[in-house]
Amino acid sequence: MLRVDHAGEFGATRIYDGQLAVIRHGPARAEIARMAEQEQRHLAAFEVLLRERRVRPTLLAPLWDAAGYALGAATALLGEQAAMACTVAVEEVIDEHYQGQADRLGDAEPALKATIIEFRDDELAHRRTALDRGAAETPGYDVLSAAIKAGSRLAIWLSTRL
Ligand SMILES: [Fe+2]
Ligand SMILES: [Fe+2]
Repeated sequence: MLRVDHAGEFGATRIYDGQLAVIRHGPARAEIARMAEQEQRHLAAFEVLLRERRVRPTLLAPLWDAAGYALGAATALLGEQAAMACTVAVEEVIDEHYQGQADRLGDAEPALKATIIEFRDDELAHRRTALDRGAAETPGYDVLSAAIKAGSRLAIWLSTRL
């Protein structure tokens, strides 16, 4: 659980790094930078948890490093709305993922569960922000969103196993 969460938050920081490398100015940049800061906070929390519980990070970190950055940069090159559509797609998958984990934890690990629920709320706020910035008006939104969701689900599946 911790390995995949750490991998996901790492990937999120890389997506925003890629977007920020392309989107250099304007209100969208400020918004992306704000979301990126929260992803850094999420990542830092899972780094502490991995260390405390001696969980090794995913072997696929180099892949998420490159793939996350490429996804961020590519969507940003399509435009600010596409960059926001990327956030919506990723956050919808992460919402399901964190909700599933919280359900599975049940009464176990209350502190971890609270962290997961808090981060899930942050992710839902990112989704809302991105929708408010016109994500759904991206040309080809449905196709783009479906592709990014499929990729995100695959990344979760792989990071849970490797
Ligand atoms: Fe996050
Ligand atoms: Fe997020």
